Amino acid sequence: MRKKTKKLKKGKEKKEKFIPQLLKGMKDVLPEESKYWRYVLEKMVKVAKSYGFEEIIVPVLEDVNLFKRTIGESTDIVEKEMFTFFDKGKREVALRPELTAGIARAYIEHGLDSLPQPIKLFSFGPVFRYEKPQAGRQREFYQFNLEVLGSASPITDSQLIALAHTLFKELKLSVEIQINSLGCKDCRKEYYKKLFEALRYKKKLLCENCQQRLNRSPLRIFDCKEKKCKEFTYNLPFLIDSICQSCKDHFIKVLENLDELQIPYNLNPRIVRGLDYYTRTVFEFWPSKGNLSEDEKSKFALGGGGRYDELIKYLGGKITPACGMAFGMERMIEEMKNQGVLLPKERKNIVFLTAISEPAKKKALSLFEELKEAKIEVKEALAKDSLRAQLDLANKIGARIVLILGQDEVAHKTIIIKDMKTGIQEVVDVNKIIAEIKKRL
Ligand code: HAM
Repeated sequence: MRKKTKKLKKGKEKKEKFIPQLLKGMKDVLPEESKYWRYVLEKMVKVAKSYGFEEIIVPVLEDVNLFKRTIGESTDIVEKEMFTFFDKGKREVALRPELTAGIARAYIEHGLDSLPQPIKLFSFGPVFRYEKPQAGRQREFYQFNLEVLGSASPITDSQLIALAHTLFKELKLSVEIQINSLGCKDCRKEYYKKLFEALRYKKKLLCENCQQRLNRSPLRIFDCKEKKCKEFTYNLPFLIDSICQSCKDHFIKVLENLDELQIPYNLNPRIVRGLDYYTRTVFEFWPSKGNLSEDEKSKFALGGGGRYDELIKYLGGKITPACGMAFGMERMIEEMKNQGVLLPKERKNIVFLTAISEPAKKKALSLFEELKEAKIEVKEALAKDSLRAQLDLANKIGARIVLILGQDEVAHKTIIIKDMKTGIQEVVDVNKIIAEIKKRL
């Protein structure tokens, strides 16, 4: 909310009216759009539960050091994008820029390592990054997050990707899976030697920020958003070509599992992810857009994740290999709209009464009153002659049940009841119709 003030001649300030305004990079979700949110979230929760995940809810506010230590001091997220402030106890806190760090903290703090491993947790909520707002990039956005803690097996990496594949199929979203391996600490030592050799005399071709970050976190030059850095990195050696035998074996198993599951993927050595905690497998889900460049697609990534085998130990916990991923809610919904995915029609508990022929309409009039008296939400269009027109209207308003009364039905004291969800219709005794409807709604 902006407070306007006006300078008066004598140096006094007069308060003007507040003009309430949405903060830059934030978003209101109005009812028309929240239908998508509800629909997508329900699918996400359903799919996560079907893979054995349980819900965890962690705070939006955490000690700033948690994010510095996990995401990495030289990442864009920590260096430039965190919403931080001092609380009343003079502690520096931050609005979470992601969910993994908080879940890792909770896992250690509550001794979740003493439960049977692995532990599979899902979480949903707002995260905050102070980025330059643009299409697909907000300062507050929502993530659906999944973590599997306590498993080093490549099965876990593959199953997470399989879960994402199932979710995208359920949402009728067409995506490309980009996958890479970042190896372990030892592979990186080897790789950095090659990288620095390739960069000899050429560091100046990188942006100033990358030059500064090179010594602290060399992989960051691969996710720099500057055009000249992007172009330059195309000619550098890739980490995947330097990974050790054990990391290679792990990665091959992940890929073989995906082949077994017939999940298509694209090996992409340029995927390094924007967070420092990753080891071994990393992946992103990009919208399938034939005409867009890699860069453009990565800007609209619908989700991403990977393995982080060192993080829990680094935070003071036991050695706990883990793997996880997160989806951006707003981007998923935007992409559903781009790809023309329609929400299924919401069927309300409305009963729609139709009738053909004069005697049937006459009978329908009294039945309509009876249904109302029985507190059933009933609608009709008996003034319309054709059954087709009446049924079209029933469909349009999303009726759950349609009742059809014709001459035959009147003669036999029956009525047709049609369930609009299943499409199944049955003939029932007209005197039992109220009980039948109540049973079904
Ligand atoms: P991330 O790739 O930084 O990963 O974010 C996951 C998803 O959040 C992105 O793919 C994108 O859909 C969405 N997203 C990111 N930034 C924005 C933004 N500014 N506006 C709108 N949507 C955005 C993580 O956060 C990791 N914690 C994922 C993970 C979980 N790795 C292991 N476990």
